[in-house]
Amino acid sequence: MHTTANRDGPNGDGDCSASIYRALRTGFRHFDTAASYGNEASIGKAVKQWTSEGHGNREDLTLTTKWGFSHDPKEEHDADGLLQQSLLHLGVDYIDLMLMHHPHVPPYTLQEAWKKMIVWQKQGKVRSIGVSNFAADHIMQLAHTGTMPAVNEIEFHPYSFSDPQVLKAVATCQELGIAIGAYTTLASLTRKEFQGGPVDEVVRHIAEDQKCTKAQVLLAWARQRTGGGPIVTTASTEKYFQETLDSLKVNLSDEQLGEIDRAGMQSAIRRRYALNVFPNGPVADRMVDGKL
Ligand SMILES: NC(=O)c1ccc[n+]([C@@H]2O[C@H](COP(=O)([O-])OP(=O)(O)OC[C@H]3O[C@@H](n4cnc5c(N)ncnc54)[C@H](OP(=O)(O)O)[C@@H]3O)[C@@H](O)[C@H]2O)c1
Repeated sequence: MHTTANRDGPNGDGDCSASIYRALRTGFRHFDTAASYGNEASIGKAVKQWTSEGHGNREDLTLTTKWGFSHDPKEEHDADGLLQQSLLHLGVDYIDLMLMHHPHVPPYTLQEAWKKMIVWQKQGKVRSIGVSNFAADHIMQLAHTGTMPAVNEIEFHPYSFSDPQVLKAVATCQELGIAIGAYTTLASLTRKEFQGGPVDEVVRHIAEDQKCTKAQVLLAWARQRTGGGPIVTTASTEKYFQETLDSLKVNLSDEQLGEIDRAGMQSAIRRRYALNVFPNGPVADRMVDGKL
């Protein structure tokens, strides 16, 4: 299970290291960040405090970061520079999992960008390499390099699950042995455009039945539907951190999984970061039904 940090600290000061440190003390060992989130240095700071206090070692942790996302589709990336910056901010000499944040990474072609990541792995600067927000076609474009991603991290919740592009991406990943990482899993609880949708009632019933919270039902659904995750979520309180960890003990029946799937299919709004609008660039990814 991943956790991740909010961009800004509780006081809006841009330092969320206290939150990361709390997550470490609660038991999280896998952190998901990105160059574009602006919080790698906070993770580095919290890890330094945690290790220097003797609670554990760098090797006990799995650090995932990403390069190659911009809100401006014309912005050019400097892959090697971003890698060095991530290592520096995190205060480590290797990264466990580096993801290409998005399939559009000018000035590189997809293959050029992926080949750079293969070199990083050979150099030992990153242990594993993966991708994020990749549709099936993007994944297939990497095939000729002979190295496939370890993970494809995508928006994955009951309202995105039945989107044909998501289904195709998931099927392709499963066929090729690529793990599905899930983000925005709690969308039906936390995102205005999804709140009050058909999933709510089903999740409420299942939570009562399982004697757990609605968030835990959604996290368990994503874990089971992806075949084990990793599930990327974030929280600002210890209560939510603990709920996230405890969701690993929740196991939904096939019937309950199916009820959630079917409720998700009933909504007209299925997704936010739609995989099938990628050709138009990152701004379009934030469109819902054609509107920003
Ligand atoms: N690869 C990508 O392109 C990509 C894109 C988007 C996101 N992500 C990653 O995924 C992470 C999570 O994304 P997200 O924020 O969109 O999704 P999310 O996991 O669906 O929602 C997180 C929100 O859920 C709330 N929450 C956490 N635990 C809860 C609980 N037990 N009960 C009720 N509410 C709970 C938190 O509220 P509080 O803040 O109030 O605690 C938090 O704001 C991001 O931080 C990022 O690392 C990756």
